[in-house]
Amino acid sequence: MIDESAAWRELEAHAGDLGRRHLHELFAAESDRQPRFTRHAAGLTLDLSKQRWSAETLARLLALAEQAGVPDAIGRLLDGERVNVSEDRPALHTALRLPADASLVVEGEDLVPGVHRTLDRMAAMVERFHAGQWRGATGRAIRDVVNLGVGGSDLGPLMVTHALSDYRLDDVHPVEVHFASTMDGSQLADYLRRLNPETTLFVLSSKSFTTIDTLSNANTARDWLMGRLAGEEGVDAELIMRQHFIGVSASAEKMGEWGIDPAHRLEFWEWVGGRYSLWGAIGLPIALMVGMDNFRALLAGAHAMDRHFREAPLADNLPVLLALAGIWNVNFLDIRAHSILPYDGRLEYFAAYLEQLEMESNGKSVTHDGREVNYATCPVLWGQLGPNAQHAFYQLLHQGTQAVECDFIAPLRRYDDVEDAATRRHLKGQHRLTLANCFAQSRVLMLGDDAIADDGPRPGHKRYRGNQPSSTLLLDELTPAILGSLIALYEHKVFVQATIWGINPFDQWGVELGKKIAGETQRILESRQGLASMDASTRALIEAAWAAEGDS
Ligand code: F6P
Repeated sequence: MIDESAAWRELEAHAGDLGRRHLHELFAAESDRQPRFTRHAAGLTLDLSKQRWSAETLARLLALAEQAGVPDAIGRLLDGERVNVSEDRPALHTALRLPADASLVVEGEDLVPGVHRTLDRMAAMVERFHAGQWRGATGRAIRDVVNLGVGGSDLGPLMVTHALSDYRLDDVHPVEVHFASTMDGSQLADYLRRLNPETTLFVLSSKSFTTIDTLSNANTARDWLMGRLAGEEGVDAELIMRQHFIGVSASAEKMGEWGIDPAHRLEFWEWVGGRYSLWGAIGLPIALMVGMDNFRALLAGAHAMDRHFREAPLADNLPVLLALAGIWNVNFLDIRAHSILPYDGRLEYFAAYLEQLEMESNGKSVTHDGREVNYATCPVLWGQLGPNAQHAFYQLLHQGTQAVECDFIAPLRRYDDVEDAATRRHLKGQHRLTLANCFAQSRVLMLGDDAIADDGPRPGHKRYRGNQPSSTLLLDELTPAILGSLIALYEHKVFVQATIWGINPFDQWGVELGKKIAGETQRILESRQGLASMDASTRALIEAAWAAEGDS
């Protein structure tokens, strides 16, 4: 394992020395820290100078990356090798964003034509909706599309549609896109109250088409449509199913079993992982909202990052550098918490998206060959809009006892196209205020008391320790292309860390047991049989649920 390597042992020794030094010392010692630790690519500027490392640290981490075979691993990933070892398949989310004139032959088949056939089918569907030609069973044009999906079949499209809200297609026939994911039906119930069944269509998004959360929502939606429309003149169940459902899955068979019309199925491949799937058919809600041109721009931006990932030397490679900062913090500074702090309200779902991308990919403790790791892997990762988090958990970041790595993310330009001059001035003022807070917070987290002009001794509750490491990612502007490169940056960062840790970022066996046990608990709850097989706590919980049912 990687911790048996010389590079790892040297980093441990190095951490023993450097780990004790404060960030303000490191800045004082290296006048060229900022240019040394800042890189640019694909519309992104990554400033890693507030990480608790030195030039020597980075050199040793790069040696570790070489030792772990990162350069070869990058090639194997992008060329479609079976890097998903436990499921014996490639992980080719990058193939979904290859341009039409590219070619990627994997095991004898060029995948690019199929990728673009899907994009063309998506384009045709989007065109029909926006021309007002997708009509419901009663002949009225569809106006509301509700995506039913969870995890990778929800978070990607949800995050991107919010991030690109400035790019909404407000053409002749606008289409509103909504998302319902939770198995308890909360979101769906709200839509069923508010939407018109005649003009509502459901996109049933599920790679497996077996996820109970999504199938529960889908069954409720189907019965809502049947109940409200089946009695109409000339409307039968088959017409309702055809005109009010689109299926997106890797399983055509299961879509057919559920009743999705063959003409309204979008398929994707087993070699696309759920949390890596927004770039293909799962991205239909994105394309419906922003149009196919902007969706293709998103793909092109991710492809630009893919090219950078493949071509840039490790020392200039943004995903590699971001990954190594994390490795240094987790494995050598024992910093096991990581917070994602976007300073842009359009990225309100970005942290939630990364929670799945990072922790479902790297929340692992067994290497490819089945050995238990004896070092830390993925940290606990969470996040919130930065400005709002300043009023939520920044107290802990500044004066708590936890060391936390923070990622600050902000766009350099905003609001240029606001027409009204006075409003544009105000909003640009708010953008400047937001940047000021973003920069100030990373500065105080780094310097602590040293960030404040010395006004004499302060009582303990007013002192700031500082020395919290952070990265700052500046987007030239939040455009479809730059959002694509931002997302791809994190996808590849996750892959580099997994490569160094020797774990598989593309499977998720850990979520299977919960699903199985939930089935058992559901059977007991519903049949009122088998309670004795449960532990005392679960027994009492089930009995409480029964008692509540008894009262209703
Ligand atoms: O959380 C487990 C998981 O399989 C995720 O990997 C996936 O994104 C989500 O459930 C939904 O799965 P599906 O797209 O098959 O419904």
